[in-house]
Amino acid sequence: MSQPDDPPPPWWERGTVYQIYPRSFQDSDGDGVGDLAGIERRLDHVAALGVDAIWLSPIFPSPMADFGYDVADYCGIEPMFGDLAAFDRLLAAAHARGLRLLLDFVPNHSSDQHPWFQASRSSRTDPKRDWYIWRDPAPDGGPPNNWISDFGGSAWDYDAATGQYYLHAFLKQQPDLNWRNPALKAAMLDVMRFWFDRGVDGFRIDVLWHIVKAEGLPDNPANPYWRPGITERDRLIQQHSTDQPEAHAIAAEMRALADSYGERVLIGEIFLPNDRHARWYGTPERPQVHLPFNFQLIENAWDAVSLRRVIADYEASLPPHGWPNWVIGSHDAPRIAARVGAAQARVAAMLLLTLRGTPTLYQGDELGIAQVDIPPERVRDPQELRQPGIGIGRDRSRTPMPWDSSPHAGFSAVEPWLPLNPDWRTRNVAAQETDPRSMLALYRHLLALRRAQPALAIGDFALLDAAPDVLAYERRHGHTVLRVALNLSAEPRPLPFEGEVLLSTLEGGGGGVLRGDEGVVMR
Ligand code: GLC
Ligand code: MG
Repeated sequence: MSQPDDPPPPWWERGTVYQIYPRSFQDSDGDGVGDLAGIERRLDHVAALGVDAIWLSPIFPSPMADFGYDVADYCGIEPMFGDLAAFDRLLAAAHARGLRLLLDFVPNHSSDQHPWFQASRSSRTDPKRDWYIWRDPAPDGGPPNNWISDFGGSAWDYDAATGQYYLHAFLKQQPDLNWRNPALKAAMLDVMRFWFDRGVDGFRIDVLWHIVKAEGLPDNPANPYWRPGITERDRLIQQHSTDQPEAHAIAAEMRALADSYGERVLIGEIFLPNDRHARWYGTPERPQVHLPFNFQLIENAWDAVSLRRVIADYEASLPPHGWPNWVIGSHDAPRIAARVGAAQARVAAMLLLTLRGTPTLYQGDELGIAQVDIPPERVRDPQELRQPGIGIGRDRSRTPMPWDSSPHAGFSAVEPWLPLNPDWRTRNVAAQETDPRSMLALYRHLLALRRAQPALAIGDFALLDAAPDVLAYERRHGHTVLRVALNLSAEPRPLPFEGEVLLSTLEGGGGGVLRGDEGVVMR
Protein backbone atom coordinates (compact mmCIF):
# COMPACT_ATOMS: atom_id res chain seq x y z
CA MET A 1 0.00 0.00 0.00
CA SER A 2 1.43 3.38 -0.91
CA GLN A 3 1.61 5.74 2.09
CA PRO A 4 2.56 9.40 2.44
CA ASP A 5 5.51 8.56 4.70
CA ASP A 6 7.04 6.05 2.28
CA PRO A 7 10.52 7.05 1.07
CA PRO A 8 10.13 9.30 -1.97
CA PRO A 9 10.02 7.27 -5.17
CA PRO A 10 12.64 7.89 -7.86
CA TRP A 11 11.77 10.54 -10.43
CA TRP A 12 11.13 8.00 -13.18
CA GLU A 13 8.31 6.40 -11.17
CA ARG A 14 6.67 9.70 -10.26
CA GLY A 15 7.34 11.47 -13.51
CA THR A 16 6.21 11.58 -17.10
CA VAL A 17 8.34 11.12 -20.20
CA TYR A 18 7.85 13.14 -23.39
CA GLN A 19 9.26 11.73 -26.62
CA ILE A 20 10.79 14.21 -29.05
CA TYR A 21 11.41 13.14 -32.63
CA PRO A 22 14.29 15.56 -33.37
CA ARG A 23 13.80 15.69 -37.13
CA SER A 24 10.33 17.08 -36.58
CA PHE A 25 10.34 19.23 -33.46
CA GLN A 26 11.87 22.56 -34.51
CA ASP A 27 14.21 23.56 -37.31
CA SER A 28 16.58 26.38 -36.40
CA ASP A 29 18.87 26.54 -39.45
CA GLY A 30 16.43 26.57 -42.33
CA ASP A 31 17.09 23.13 -43.81
CA GLY A 32 13.56 21.84 -43.24
CA VAL A 33 14.74 19.33 -40.65
CA GLY A 34 14.57 19.81 -36.88
CA ASP A 35 17.75 20.14 -34.84
CA LEU A 36 19.13 20.45 -31.31
CA ALA A 37 19.15 24.26 -31.23
CA GLY A 38 15.50 24.09 -32.29
CA ILE A 39 14.64 21.75 -29.44
CA GLU A 40 16.42 24.07 -27.02
CA ARG A 41 14.34 26.99 -28.32
CA ARG A 42 11.12 25.06 -27.66
CA LEU A 43 11.94 23.69 -24.23
CA ASP A 44 9.58 26.13 -22.56
CA HIS A 45 6.68 24.39 -24.29
CA VAL A 46 7.83 21.07 -22.85
CA ALA A 47 8.35 22.49 -19.37
CA ALA A 48 4.97 24.27 -19.43
CA LEU A 49 3.29 21.02 -20.40
CA GLY A 50 4.36 19.62 -17.04
CA VAL A 51 6.39 16.58 -18.03
CA ASP A 52 9.54 15.52 -16.19
CA ALA A 53 11.84 14.08 -18.83
CA ILE A 54 12.40 14.18 -22.54
CA TRP A 55 13.59 11.27 -24.61
CA LEU A 56 15.22 12.15 -27.92
CA SER A 57 15.06 9.70 -30.80
CA PRO A 58 18.62 9.21 -32.16
CA ILE A 59 20.72 12.32 -32.75
CA PHE A 60 23.98 10.58 -33.69
CA PRO A 61 25.82 10.74 -37.02
CA SER A 62 23.78 8.66 -39.44
CA PRO A 63 23.26 8.14 -43.16
CA MET A 64 19.55 8.22 -42.21
CA ALA A 65 18.59 5.01 -44.00
CA ASP A 66 16.29 4.47 -40.99
CA PHE A 67 16.27 8.10 -39.85
CA GLY A 68 18.93 7.84 -37.18
CA TYR A 69 18.32 4.23 -36.09
CA ASP A 70 21.34 3.49 -38.27
CA VAL A 71 24.16 4.96 -36.18
CA ALA A 72 27.55 5.64 -37.78
CA ASP A 73 29.19 7.01 -34.60
CA TYR A 74 27.71 6.33 -31.16
CA CYS A 75 29.63 9.16 -29.50
CA GLY A 76 28.98 12.03 -31.88
CA ILE A 77 26.16 14.28 -33.05
CA GLU A 78 24.73 14.21 -36.56
CA PRO A 79 25.81 17.51 -38.20
CA MET A 80 22.25 18.06 -39.44
CA PHE A 81 21.22 18.21 -35.76
CA GLY A 82 24.20 20.17 -34.42
CA ASP A 83 27.36 19.20 -32.58
CA LEU A 84 28.47 18.17 -29.11
CA ALA A 85 28.53 21.80 -27.97
CA ALA A 86 24.89 22.18 -29.06
CA PHE A 87 24.07 18.98 -27.24
CA ASP A 88 25.73 20.20 -24.04
CA ARG A 89 23.77 23.45 -24.30
CA LEU A 90 20.52 21.56 -24.76
CA LEU A 91 21.26 19.29 -21.81
CA ALA A 92 22.09 22.27 -19.58
CA ALA A 93 18.95 24.10 -20.74
CA ALA A 94 16.81 21.04 -20.00
CA HIS A 95 18.33 20.58 -16.57
CA ALA A 96 17.87 24.28 -15.82
CA ARG A 97 14.12 23.72 -16.33
CA GLY A 98 14.06 20.64 -14.16
CA LEU A 99 13.75 18.35 -17.18
CA ARG A 100 15.74 15.12 -17.37
CA LEU A 101 17.11 14.09 -20.74
CA LEU A 102 17.20 10.55 -22.10
CA LEU A 103 18.99 9.49 -25.26
CA ASP A 104 18.12 6.66 -27.61
CA PHE A 105 20.70 3.88 -27.42
CA VAL A 106 20.67 1.59 -30.47
CA PRO A 107 22.61 -1.52 -29.45
CA ASN A 108 21.23 -4.18 -31.81
CA HIS A 109 22.73 -2.77 -34.99
CA SER A 110 24.90 0.02 -36.28
CA SER A 111 24.93 1.67 -39.67
CA ASP A 112 26.78 -0.14 -42.43
CA GLN A 113 28.77 3.11 -42.64
CA HIS A 114 30.05 2.75 -39.07
CA PRO A 115 33.87 2.36 -39.12
CA TRP A 116 33.41 -0.86 -37.14
CA PHE A 117 31.38 -2.42 -39.94
CA GLN A 118 33.68 -1.03 -42.61
CA ALA A 119 36.54 -2.83 -40.84
CA SER A 120 34.43 -5.93 -40.24
CA ARG A 121 33.51 -6.34 -43.88
CA SER A 122 37.05 -5.63 -45.13
CA SER A 123 38.32 -9.17 -44.53
CA ARG A 124 37.50 -12.41 -42.75
CA THR A 125 40.52 -11.94 -40.51
CA ASP A 126 39.92 -8.33 -39.51
CA PRO A 127 39.89 -7.97 -35.70
CA LYS A 128 36.36 -6.52 -35.97
CA ARG A 129 35.05 -9.31 -38.21
CA ASP A 130 33.39 -10.93 -35.20
CA TRP A 131 31.83 -7.65 -34.01
CA TYR A 132 29.02 -8.43 -36.49
CA ILE A 133 27.32 -11.69 -37.38
CA TRP A 134 28.87 -13.29 -40.46
CA ARG A 135 28.08 -16.79 -41.74
CA ASP A 136 28.86 -18.91 -44.76
CA PRO A 137 26.12 -19.36 -47.35
CA ALA A 138 23.81 -22.37 -47.04
CA PRO A 139 24.86 -25.35 -49.21
CA ASP A 140 22.67 -24.01 -52.05
CA GLY A 141 24.41 -20.63 -51.80
CA GLY A 142 21.37 -19.01 -50.20
CA PRO A 143 21.14 -17.30 -46.80
CA PRO A 144 22.39 -19.21 -43.72
CA ASN A 145 18.89 -19.56 -42.23
CA ASN A 146 15.25 -18.57 -42.80
CA TRP A 147 15.16 -15.43 -40.66
CA ILE A 148 13.14 -12.53 -42.03
CA SER A 149 14.03 -8.88 -41.55
CA ASP A 150 11.52 -6.82 -39.55
CA PHE A 151 11.32 -4.61 -42.60
CA GLY A 152 10.68 -7.52 -45.01
CA GLY A 153 12.91 -9.84 -47.04
CA SER A 154 15.71 -12.07 -45.80
CA ALA A 155 17.57 -10.91 -42.70
CA TRP A 156 20.82 -11.77 -44.49
CA ASP A 157 22.81 -9.89 -47.08
CA TYR A 158 25.58 -11.47 -49.15
CA ASP A 159 28.88 -9.64 -49.23
CA ALA A 160 30.76 -10.79 -52.33
CA ALA A 161 34.09 -9.29 -51.19
CA THR A 162 34.50 -11.90 -48.45
CA GLY A 163 31.99 -14.52 -49.62
CA GLN A 164 29.81 -14.52 -46.51
CA TYR A 165 26.42 -13.24 -45.42
CA TYR A 166 25.87 -10.76 -42.57
CA LEU A 167 22.76 -10.60 -40.43
CA HIS A 168 20.47 -7.57 -40.27
CA ALA A 169 17.23 -7.70 -38.30
CA PHE A 170 16.18 -4.44 -39.99
CA LEU A 171 17.53 -2.82 -43.17
CA LYS A 172 20.63 -4.19 -44.82
CA GLN A 173 22.14 -0.79 -43.96
CA GLN A 174 21.70 -1.81 -40.30
CA PRO A 175 24.00 -4.82 -39.70
CA ASP A 176 23.40 -6.56 -36.35
CA LEU A 177 26.17 -6.26 -33.79
CA ASN A 178 27.52 -9.39 -32.12
CA TRP A 179 27.03 -8.96 -28.37
CA ARG A 180 28.62 -12.37 -27.77
CA ASN A 181 31.96 -10.75 -28.62
CA PRO A 182 33.47 -9.34 -25.39
CA ALA A 183 35.30 -6.49 -27.14
CA LEU A 184 32.11 -5.32 -28.86
CA LYS A 185 30.22 -5.50 -25.61
CA ALA A 186 32.90 -3.49 -23.82
CA ALA A 187 32.88 -0.88 -26.59
CA MET A 188 29.09 -0.51 -26.36
CA LEU A 189 29.12 -0.20 -22.57
CA ASP A 190 31.75 2.51 -23.04
CA VAL A 191 29.25 4.34 -25.24
CA MET A 192 26.80 4.39 -22.33
CA ARG A 193 29.56 5.67 -20.05
CA PHE A 194 30.42 8.41 -22.54
CA TRP A 195 26.89 9.85 -22.36
CA PHE A 196 26.40 9.24 -18.64
CA ASP A 197 29.66 11.12 -18.05
CA ARG A 198 28.25 13.97 -20.11
CA GLY A 199 25.28 14.10 -17.79
CA VAL A 200 22.42 12.32 -19.56
CA ASP A 201 19.79 10.91 -17.24
CA GLY A 202 19.27 7.61 -18.99
CA PHE A 203 18.49 5.81 -22.19
CA ARG A 204 15.60 4.42 -24.11
CA ILE A 205 17.14 1.24 -25.50
CA ASP A 206 16.12 0.36 -29.03
CA VAL A 207 14.81 -3.20 -29.70
CA LEU A 208 16.54 -4.49 -26.59
CA TRP A 209 15.05 -7.97 -26.83
CA HIS A 210 16.78 -8.46 -30.20
CA ILE A 211 20.39 -8.01 -29.14
CA VAL A 212 21.45 -11.67 -28.79
CA LYS A 213 20.55 -14.56 -31.12
CA ALA A 214 20.40 -18.25 -30.23
CA GLU A 215 23.69 -20.10 -30.52
CA GLY A 216 23.88 -21.89 -33.87
CA LEU A 217 21.24 -19.57 -35.41
CA PRO A 218 18.54 -22.23 -35.94
CA ASP A 219 15.65 -21.59 -38.34
CA ASN A 220 12.69 -19.78 -36.78
CA PRO A 221 9.39 -21.72 -36.73
CA ALA A 222 6.51 -20.74 -39.01
CA ASN A 223 3.72 -18.64 -37.50
CA PRO A 224 0.43 -20.49 -38.08
CA TYR A 225 -1.53 -17.24 -37.68
CA TRP A 226 0.22 -15.36 -40.46
CA ARG A 227 -1.92 -14.33 -43.42
CA PRO A 228 -1.28 -12.00 -46.39
CA GLY A 229 -1.64 -8.35 -45.46
CA ILE A 230 0.30 -8.75 -42.22
CA THR A 231 3.95 -7.71 -42.24
CA GLU A 232 6.23 -10.32 -43.77
CA ARG A 233 8.25 -10.52 -40.55
CA ASP A 234 5.31 -12.24 -38.89
CA ARG A 235 5.47 -15.27 -41.18
CA LEU A 236 7.86 -16.64 -38.59
CA ILE A 237 7.88 -16.66 -34.80
CA GLN A 238 11.09 -14.92 -33.74
CA GLN A 239 11.91 -17.69 -31.31
CA HIS A 240 15.63 -17.96 -31.95
CA SER A 241 16.37 -14.41 -33.08
CA THR A 242 15.02 -12.57 -30.00
CA ASP A 243 14.57 -12.75 -26.21
CA GLN A 244 17.56 -14.93 -25.41
CA PRO A 245 18.79 -15.47 -21.82
CA GLU A 246 22.13 -13.89 -22.72
CA ALA A 247 20.32 -10.67 -23.66
CA HIS A 248 18.79 -10.54 -20.18
CA ALA A 249 22.26 -10.94 -18.69
CA ILE A 250 23.50 -8.01 -20.76
CA ALA A 251 20.53 -5.89 -19.68
CA ALA A 252 21.58 -6.59 -16.09
CA GLU A 253 25.09 -5.37 -16.90
CA MET A 254 23.69 -2.21 -18.47
CA ARG A 255 21.60 -1.67 -15.35
CA ALA A 256 24.58 -2.13 -13.02
CA LEU A 257 26.42 0.47 -15.08
CA ALA A 258 23.48 2.89 -14.95
CA ASP A 259 23.09 2.39 -11.20
CA SER A 260 26.77 3.17 -10.67
CA TYR A 261 25.90 6.71 -11.86
CA GLY A 262 23.10 7.27 -9.33
CA GLU A 263 19.50 7.99 -10.32
CA ARG A 264 19.59 7.16 -14.03
CA VAL A 265 16.91 5.25 -15.89
CA LEU A 266 16.87 2.57 -18.57
CA ILE A 267 13.74 2.09 -20.64
CA GLY A 268 13.79 -0.97 -22.86
CA GLU A 269 11.88 -1.20 -26.12
CA ILE A 270 10.48 -4.72 -25.82
CA PHE A 271 7.53 -6.27 -27.61
CA LEU A 272 6.62 -9.60 -25.95
CA PRO A 273 3.67 -11.28 -24.26
CA ASN A 274 3.24 -10.30 -20.59
CA ASP A 275 5.01 -13.26 -18.99
CA ARG A 276 8.16 -12.84 -21.07
CA HIS A 277 7.94 -9.05 -20.98
CA ALA A 278 7.95 -8.99 -17.16
CA ARG A 279 11.25 -10.88 -17.06
CA TRP A 280 13.02 -7.78 -18.36
CA TYR A 281 12.68 -6.21 -14.92
CA GLY A 282 15.11 -8.85 -13.69
CA THR A 283 15.17 -9.69 -10.00
CA PRO A 284 15.62 -7.34 -7.01
CA GLU A 285 19.16 -8.71 -6.62
CA ARG A 286 19.98 -8.46 -10.30
CA PRO A 287 17.67 -5.90 -11.89
CA GLN A 288 17.53 -5.30 -15.65
CA VAL A 289 15.72 -2.29 -17.13
CA HIS A 290 13.71 0.04 -14.91
CA LEU A 291 10.90 0.20 -17.42
CA PRO A 292 10.28 -2.34 -20.17
CA PHE A 293 8.15 -0.21 -22.49
CA ASN A 294 4.52 -1.32 -22.42
CA PHE A 295 2.79 -0.73 -25.76
CA GLN A 296 -0.46 -2.50 -25.02
CA LEU A 297 -2.64 0.61 -25.24
CA ILE A 298 -1.38 0.99 -28.80
CA GLU A 299 -1.85 -2.63 -29.79
CA ASN A 300 -5.28 -3.44 -28.39
CA ALA A 301 -8.88 -2.63 -29.31
CA TRP A 302 -10.27 0.60 -27.91
CA ASP A 303 -13.28 -0.46 -25.86
CA ALA A 304 -13.92 -0.76 -22.13
CA VAL A 305 -13.91 -4.57 -22.04
CA SER A 306 -10.60 -4.91 -23.89
CA LEU A 307 -8.92 -2.13 -21.95
CA ARG A 308 -10.05 -3.60 -18.65
CA ARG A 309 -8.58 -6.95 -19.58
CA VAL A 310 -5.33 -5.44 -20.86
CA ILE A 311 -4.85 -3.39 -17.70
CA ALA A 312 -5.73 -6.25 -15.34
CA ASP A 313 -3.50 -8.75 -17.14
CA TYR A 314 -0.57 -6.34 -17.30
CA GLU A 315 -0.87 -5.36 -13.63
CA ALA A 316 -1.08 -9.05 -12.68
CA SER A 317 2.01 -9.89 -14.72
CA LEU A 318 4.29 -7.40 -12.94
CA PRO A 319 6.81 -8.73 -10.44
CA PRO A 320 6.49 -7.12 -6.97
CA HIS A 321 9.50 -4.88 -7.67
CA GLY A 322 8.36 -3.97 -11.22
CA TRP A 323 7.02 -0.44 -11.71
CA PRO A 324 4.48 -0.26 -14.59
CA ASN A 325 4.51 2.11 -17.55
CA TRP A 326 2.19 3.01 -20.41
CA VAL A 327 2.73 4.34 -23.92
CA ILE A 328 0.04 5.63 -26.23
CA GLY A 329 1.99 7.03 -29.18
CA SER A 330 5.43 6.97 -30.78
CA HIS A 331 7.31 7.67 -33.98
CA ASP A 332 6.46 4.11 -35.08
CA ALA A 333 2.77 3.88 -34.14
CA PRO A 334 -0.28 5.52 -35.72
CA ARG A 335 -1.43 8.71 -33.98
CA ILE A 336 -3.84 7.95 -31.15
CA ALA A 337 -6.30 10.60 -32.39
CA ALA A 338 -6.26 9.00 -35.84
CA ARG A 339 -6.94 5.61 -34.35
CA VAL A 340 -9.70 6.37 -31.83
CA GLY A 341 -11.01 9.73 -33.11
CA ALA A 342 -10.86 13.24 -31.68
CA ALA A 343 -13.43 12.71 -28.91
CA GLN A 344 -11.89 9.49 -27.59
CA ALA A 345 -8.37 10.95 -27.87
CA ARG A 346 -9.29 13.13 -24.87
CA VAL A 347 -10.41 10.04 -22.96
CA ALA A 348 -7.14 8.37 -23.98
CA ALA A 349 -5.16 11.29 -22.56
CA MET A 350 -6.94 10.89 -19.23
CA LEU A 351 -6.38 7.15 -19.25
CA LEU A 352 -2.66 7.48 -19.97
CA LEU A 353 -2.17 10.06 -17.24
CA THR A 354 -4.24 8.42 -14.51
CA LEU A 355 -3.17 4.78 -14.80
CA ARG A 356 -0.59 3.43 -12.38
CA GLY A 357 2.79 3.65 -14.03
CA THR A 358 5.11 6.05 -15.81
CA PRO A 359 3.40 7.53 -18.89
CA THR A 360 5.27 8.31 -22.09
CA LEU A 361 3.70 10.99 -24.29
CA TYR A 362 4.62 11.45 -27.91
CA GLN A 363 5.15 14.94 -29.36
CA GLY A 364 2.11 16.30 -31.13
CA ASP A 365 -0.36 14.05 -29.32
CA GLU A 366 -0.81 16.93 -26.86
CA LEU A 367 -2.33 18.82 -29.79
CA GLY A 368 -4.53 15.95 -30.89
CA ILE A 369 -2.86 15.63 -34.28
CA ALA A 370 -4.79 12.94 -36.13
CA GLN A 371 -4.49 11.33 -39.54
CA VAL A 372 -1.96 12.90 -41.89
CA ASP A 373 -2.10 11.48 -45.40
CA ILE A 374 1.35 11.45 -46.93
CA PRO A 375 1.25 11.85 -50.72
CA PRO A 376 3.08 8.92 -52.36
CA GLU A 377 5.90 11.09 -53.64
CA ARG A 378 6.64 12.32 -50.11
CA VAL A 379 6.79 8.93 -48.40
CA ARG A 380 10.16 8.61 -46.62
CA ASP A 381 9.75 5.70 -44.21
CA PRO A 382 11.93 2.79 -45.42
CA GLN A 383 9.62 0.23 -43.83
CA GLU A 384 6.67 1.60 -45.82
CA LEU A 385 8.73 1.83 -49.01
CA ARG A 386 9.74 -1.82 -48.69
CA GLN A 387 6.25 -3.09 -47.85
CA PRO A 388 3.78 -0.63 -49.34
CA GLY A 389 0.03 -0.89 -49.05
CA ILE A 390 -0.40 -2.72 -45.74
CA GLY A 391 -0.70 0.39 -43.63
CA ILE A 392 2.74 0.55 -42.00
CA GLY A 393 3.50 4.13 -43.05
CA ARG A 394 5.42 5.51 -40.08
CA ASP A 395 5.69 8.97 -41.65
CA ARG A 396 2.11 9.57 -40.48
CA SER A 397 3.31 10.22 -36.92
CA ARG A 398 6.63 11.86 -37.81
CA THR A 399 5.24 15.06 -39.32
CA PRO A 400 6.59 18.39 -38.02
CA MET A 401 5.26 20.04 -34.86
CA PRO A 402 2.90 22.87 -35.77
CA TRP A 403 3.83 25.79 -33.52
CA ASP A 404 1.73 28.63 -34.93
CA SER A 405 -0.09 29.80 -38.04
CA SER A 406 2.93 31.48 -39.67
CA PRO A 407 4.41 29.89 -42.84
CA HIS A 408 5.39 26.24 -42.31
CA ALA A 409 3.71 26.44 -38.90
CA GLY A 410 6.75 28.10 -37.33
CA PHE A 411 8.57 24.78 -37.66
CA SER A 412 10.95 25.93 -40.36
CA ALA A 413 11.66 28.78 -42.73
CA VAL A 414 11.37 26.35 -45.65
CA GLU A 415 9.17 23.45 -46.71
CA PRO A 416 9.68 20.74 -44.05
CA TRP A 417 11.02 17.25 -44.85
CA LEU A 418 7.54 15.79 -44.27
CA PRO A 419 4.22 17.59 -44.74
CA LEU A 420 2.44 19.23 -41.82
CA ASN A 421 -0.87 18.02 -40.42
CA PRO A 422 -3.55 19.34 -42.83
CA ASP A 423 -5.25 21.40 -40.09
CA TRP A 424 -2.01 23.03 -38.86
CA ARG A 425 -3.39 26.57 -39.32
CA THR A 426 -5.81 25.97 -36.48
CA ARG A 427 -4.29 22.94 -34.76
CA ASN A 428 -1.03 24.36 -33.46
CA VAL A 429 0.55 25.19 -30.11
CA ALA A 430 -0.14 28.95 -30.24
CA ALA A 431 -3.82 28.48 -31.08
CA GLN A 432 -4.35 25.83 -28.40
CA GLU A 433 -2.51 27.81 -25.76
CA THR A 434 -5.24 30.44 -25.71
CA ASP A 435 -8.16 27.98 -25.91
CA PRO A 436 -9.20 26.52 -22.55
CA ARG A 437 -11.06 23.69 -24.32
CA SER A 438 -8.07 22.61 -26.37
CA MET A 439 -6.29 19.28 -26.16
CA LEU A 440 -3.19 21.14 -25.00
CA ALA A 441 -5.14 22.65 -22.10
CA LEU A 442 -6.44 19.20 -21.17
CA TYR A 443 -2.94 17.71 -21.19
CA ARG A 444 -1.65 20.55 -19.01
CA HIS A 445 -4.50 20.07 -16.54
CA LEU A 446 -3.97 16.32 -16.41
CA LEU A 447 -0.23 16.65 -15.89
CA ALA A 448 -0.72 19.31 -13.21
CA LEU A 449 -3.25 17.10 -11.42
CA ARG A 450 -0.89 14.14 -11.60
CA ARG A 451 1.88 16.23 -10.07
CA ALA A 452 -0.39 17.59 -7.36
CA GLN A 453 -1.91 14.23 -6.43
CA PRO A 454 0.44 11.49 -5.24
CA ALA A 455 -2.55 9.13 -5.54
CA LEU A 456 -2.32 9.55 -9.34
CA ALA A 457 1.46 9.58 -9.60
CA ILE A 458 2.33 6.72 -7.29
CA GLY A 459 -0.85 5.48 -5.62
CA ASP A 460 -2.24 1.96 -5.60
CA PHE A 461 -4.57 0.88 -8.37
CA ALA A 462 -7.79 -1.13 -8.47
CA LEU A 463 -10.35 -1.63 -11.21
CA LEU A 464 -13.96 -0.85 -10.23
CA ASP A 465 -17.26 -2.18 -11.52
CA ALA A 466 -19.13 0.09 -13.90
CA ALA A 467 -21.81 0.16 -16.59
CA PRO A 468 -21.03 -1.29 -20.02
CA ASP A 469 -18.68 0.97 -22.03
CA VAL A 470 -17.34 2.53 -18.85
CA LEU A 471 -13.84 1.88 -17.58
CA ALA A 472 -13.54 2.76 -13.90
CA TYR A 473 -10.75 2.49 -11.37
CA GLU A 474 -9.46 4.01 -8.19
CA ARG A 475 -6.09 5.31 -7.16
CA ARG A 476 -5.28 5.35 -3.47
CA HIS A 477 -2.44 6.93 -1.52
CA GLY A 478 -2.68 7.08 2.27
CA HIS A 479 -6.14 8.47 2.99
CA THR A 480 -6.65 9.95 -0.45
CA VAL A 481 -8.85 7.99 -2.82
CA LEU A 482 -9.36 9.28 -6.35
CA ARG A 483 -11.71 7.57 -8.78
CA VAL A 484 -11.57 7.71 -12.54
CA ALA A 485 -14.46 6.90 -14.89
CA LEU A 486 -13.99 6.87 -18.64
CA ASN A 487 -16.88 6.61 -21.07
CA LEU A 488 -15.62 4.71 -24.09
CA SER A 489 -18.89 5.30 -25.95
CA ALA A 490 -20.46 8.41 -27.47
CA GLU A 491 -23.68 7.94 -25.43
CA PRO A 492 -24.27 9.03 -21.83
CA ARG A 493 -23.69 6.35 -19.19
CA PRO A 494 -24.40 6.31 -15.45
CA LEU A 495 -21.56 7.55 -13.28
CA PRO A 496 -20.36 4.61 -11.23
CA PHE A 497 -19.77 6.74 -8.11
CA GLU A 498 -20.50 10.08 -6.49
CA GLY A 499 -18.15 12.80 -5.42
CA GLU A 500 -16.47 15.99 -6.45
CA VAL A 501 -15.25 16.20 -10.05
CA LEU A 502 -11.60 17.27 -9.99
CA LEU A 503 -11.25 17.18 -13.76
CA SER A 504 -13.42 16.33 -16.75
CA THR A 505 -12.35 15.90 -20.34
CA LEU A 506 -15.42 17.97 -21.30
CA GLU A 507 -16.65 21.40 -20.26
CA GLY A 508 -19.40 21.96 -17.72
CA GLY A 509 -21.46 18.94 -16.70
CA GLY A 510 -21.97 17.71 -13.17
CA GLY A 511 -25.44 16.23 -13.72
CA GLY A 512 -24.61 12.86 -12.19
CA VAL A 513 -24.06 11.19 -15.55
CA LEU A 514 -21.00 10.50 -17.58
CA ARG A 515 -21.58 12.23 -20.90
CA GLY A 516 -20.68 10.59 -24.18
CA ASP A 517 -16.89 10.47 -24.64
CA GLU A 518 -16.37 11.93 -21.19
CA GLY A 519 -13.74 11.02 -18.66
CA VAL A 520 -13.68 12.29 -15.10
CA VAL A 521 -11.34 12.21 -12.14
CA MET A 522 -13.34 12.41 -8.92
CA ARG A 523 -12.67 12.64 -5.22
C1 GLC B 1 12.79 0.58 -33.16
C2 GLC B 1 12.59 2.02 -33.54
C3 GLC B 1 12.25 2.09 -34.99
C4 GLC B 1 13.42 1.54 -35.77
C5 GLC B 1 13.78 0.13 -35.33
C6 GLC B 1 15.11 -0.28 -35.81
O1 GLC B 1 11.63 -0.17 -33.27
O2 GLC B 1 11.61 2.59 -32.71
O3 GLC B 1 11.94 3.40 -35.40
O4 GLC B 1 13.11 1.53 -37.14
O5 GLC B 1 13.83 0.04 -33.92
O6 GLC B 1 16.13 0.41 -35.14
MG1 MG C 1 17.60 22.12 -39.18
